[in-house]
Amino acid sequence: MSTHILAIESSCDETAAALFVDHRLLSERVASQGVHQSYGGVVPELASRAHLTHIVPVVDQVLKEGSFSRSQLTHIAFTQGPGLMGALLVGTCFAQGLALALELPLIPVHHIKAHLFANYITAPYPKLPFLGLVVSGGHTQLVWVERYDKVTLLGETLDDAAGEAFDKIAKLLGFPYPGGAHIDRHAQEGDAETFSFPITRLPKLNFSFSGIKTAVLYFLRKEEKKNANFVEKHLHDLCASVQHAIVTMLIEKVGQAIEETGSQQLVVGGGVAANSELKKRLYALTQEKGCELFIPPIHHCQDNAAMIGITAYHQLQQGIQPIKGAYQEPMARMTF
Ligand code: KG4
Ligand code: ZN
Repeated sequence: MSTHILAIESSCDETAAALFVDHRLLSERVASQGVHQSYGGVVPELASRAHLTHIVPVVDQVLKEGSFSRSQLTHIAFTQGPGLMGALLVGTCFAQGLALALELPLIPVHHIKAHLFANYITAPYPKLPFLGLVVSGGHTQLVWVERYDKVTLLGETLDDAAGEAFDKIAKLLGFPYPGGAHIDRHAQEGDAETFSFPITRLPKLNFSFSGIKTAVLYFLRKEEKKNANFVEKHLHDLCASVQHAIVTMLIEKVGQAIEETGSQQLVVGGGVAANSELKKRLYALTQEKGCELFIPPIHHCQDNAAMIGITAYHQLQQGIQPIKGAYQEPMARMTF
């Protein structure tokens, strides 16, 4: 019998739903929250309130677009964590309320694993096991994935995530939140060799991105004292130089991880995977190492519910039992 999964994602500032028939994506919607822009970052309380407003229309739209009625659903999947507690609570409670009302089993999904399983939405698909790199606004992690329930953490950032570094530096350069994509766009017209920012090299497979943020802050303060229009005058070169440093820190550790694991596949996920220099250099690196590279299209790199739905489908395929009738707590922090 085929599965009809409704998936819900609400871990941060996107309210999203998707509808799957087995592994086939029928429809999906993401409602983004513009409300955070003027604050320069996600305000957790505002995120929860916006999820409450968006969740019913978003779910109704995917059912309508997929020409599906609620009675045809067989499973409800939702993001259990990690994420913002108030934001997760909205999706978790909505999913569980719907599952109770429709008497359907629930599939809780780990958000970080889902960023990697997003690579199973469209072919070609990676084969398990694989080396995974998650680069988002909240996470920078290297993992070894054998199954959904057998994921080993190889290394991670010990302070800021790569996306957080992009966003905080973007704010210093005057871009609205989230600024990662703005840096990427302006970097394309700049010269990465104009300014030299520090490359932090930690032992093992760990990352650190707080140093570059502080270095850029002090550098701009010093230069702006001499010339108030410094940022405006050098915007493209600043973006290219910052991007080059962040991407170099990622690439070095990914290269080391490929060597240490001997992996023949690199599977990437998370919003920063949309970065054009990162994509280019990951492609060159994997070519050089004889490794196959998997990166989802941009809309499936960023937070979305299709990645939750496909991960739920793979959980069922791997024999992981869905849950019936028992309350599943949202988890702001969640290990593998
Ligand atoms: O995965 P995601 O949508 O949300 C989280 O789970 O965090 O990732 C959002 C992050 C933000 O930090 C955003 O600035 C960054 O991804 N981002 C980019 C680009 N597009 C999105 N960073 C660098 N270059 C981009 N093109
Ligand atoms: Zn995410």
